[in-house]
Amino acid sequence: MCGIVGYTGNQEATPIILEGLRKLEYRGYDSAGVCVIHSGRAEIRRSEGKLVNLDKLLATAPVNGEIGIGHTRWATHGRPSEINAHPHQAGSIIVVHNGIIENYLELKERLTGLGRTFKSETDTEVISHIIDEKFKETGNFEQAVRNALQELRGAYAVCILCENDPGVLIAAKQGSPMVIGLGENEYFVASDIPAILSHTREMVFMEDGEMVVFSRGKAVFSTVAGEPLEKKPRHIDWSPLMAEKGGYKHFMLKEIFEQPRAIRDTIAGRLMEEDGNVFLEGVKLSDGELAQVERIFIVACGTSWHAALVGKFLIEEHCRIPVEVDIASEFRYRNPIINDKTLMILISQSGETADTLAALREGKARGAKNIAICNVVDSSIARESNGVIYTHAGPEIGVASTKAFITQLAALFLFTIRFGRAIGTIDRDKGRTMVSLLIRIPALLDNVLELNGQIEKIARTYMHARDFLYLGRGINYPIALEGALKLKEISYIHAEGYPAGEMKHGPIALIDENMPVVIVVPKNENYEKVASNMEEVIARGGLVIAVCSEGDEEIRKKAMTTIEIPRDSDDLTPILVSVPMQLLAYHIAVLKGTLACKIGKIK
Ligand code: F6R
Repeated sequence: MCGIVGYTGNQEATPIILEGLRKLEYRGYDSAGVCVIHSGRAEIRRSEGKLVNLDKLLATAPVNGEIGIGHTRWATHGRPSEINAHPHQAGSIIVVHNGIIENYLELKERLTGLGRTFKSETDTEVISHIIDEKFKETGNFEQAVRNALQELRGAYAVCILCENDPGVLIAAKQGSPMVIGLGENEYFVASDIPAILSHTREMVFMEDGEMVVFSRGKAVFSTVAGEPLEKKPRHIDWSPLMAEKGGYKHFMLKEIFEQPRAIRDTIAGRLMEEDGNVFLEGVKLSDGELAQVERIFIVACGTSWHAALVGKFLIEEHCRIPVEVDIASEFRYRNPIINDKTLMILISQSGETADTLAALREGKARGAKNIAICNVVDSSIARESNGVIYTHAGPEIGVASTKAFITQLAALFLFTIRFGRAIGTIDRDKGRTMVSLLIRIPALLDNVLELNGQIEKIARTYMHARDFLYLGRGINYPIALEGALKLKEISYIHAEGYPAGEMKHGPIALIDENMPVVIVVPKNENYEKVASNMEEVIARGGLVIAVCSEGDEEIRKKAMTTIEIPRDSDDLTPILVSVPMQLLAYHIAVLKGTLACKIGKIK
């Protein structure tokens, strides 16, 4: 996830672009850059780190001009650095891009064959080269963009300038967000409304496959293929604060609702549907090396540790290799039995958690192979591990991990397919079925998110409880732990997660008519067992909130409340069930007024 801004009009472009980028920093903040065209010359300034670094650079090396583009980056391909920061120029073409180009390696190989050299490690540089290549063929900027975009696979929102056509700005979108602001003789492009809201409230929302050409004070909309389009502006009356959170009340809610997009980004460019396999560029181990693995350790902290527990179920079920899951702060201080036949998987959203990093170092010192699953590109864990699967969730601003967690689950699912295919426990047909499951997740998540209103009502009913219990079994037991952690973390209500079958060994004594018990009871092989655990809770007067499969009449009859999720593969249930857990904790925290945020002033 990155932020892009474009401007063309009668004002100085740079301050407008910088102000827009500041509003988009929530989309990424590891590097930033601008390009402004003046007297037919493109002036580019880029810097690593937060936007203030770009501000400082521009103070010493200013750029002037009335047409320009800018970018704030959250790295996906290539570490955060000045070289990888946007804009990227090839020949006379300059591009800023938000999204992921899935076929960039294939295109890069072709362009390299044509004698082109690449300066960065990004997928975006391929876009500027391919447009420049087409520009050399056609001599027409607009046509070159159209021809080039039709060769891209994946997601993009792009703003493009051309030194040889200096009065023209082109923007196009496929899969990544883009809004156009209409001013008085001026136009704005941005990834999101807040970036341009202080300049105009008349906005056009671009749809996939659409493009706009700004030239000579006019905006001409069309499809990328060239069909003319009539686009109607909408008046936006949001307050600037509302706009920053995309109309959501809090960043946490925004991030919960962003999860279908986040999963799409995690799997983008990685699925080989025909072969029933996945492509994980960052996993450097060959099939032969993976086949030597005799045991896996997954090590992590907090929410990431819950993802690790789900990973154990997935890998053991489909790859039949023993998996141990460890809390990093425990692992590093004991004497784990690991050797060069051990594969360690380190999971960390931030890639900076000290205990997880120390566990990685400990494992390396003992000769174990390792792979990290991280969100933050080029973080310490990502840098020090021998391979990494980035989750591409985008920056996490809400205090509690939500989209980071479910993208970790998706990354573990990707790894399971890759590993199982390598060692032969997953054949092509099974691989194809598993890949198709991943493709289904975003749409299923959309369905689950529709339960938001119902879950808010449930939160109102139970917000005053002093304690909560969360129960689950098998692959959903870690989700019970995660549900309890979310509630504790943001609402300050004491909550415990338990394997449902373990309840009778002690915790059952706590259950009475004041105790809400969230039970994950989807229709799977454990269904009857969990349903009978639910009976035990009911017998003691517990207030059962059952997270069950859609239309489960039996559970409806018995539970106080049901939250019903679509029925799908058991492997996917943890991802779907996580969402009601997040929403319940979120609404209780909002009602109690306890919700905080990672970035102090943004709530
Ligand atoms: C909970 C949460 C924490 C983190 C934990 C590990 O919502 O955010 O439990 O999961 O601190 O952090 P990472 O994944 O960055 O290593």
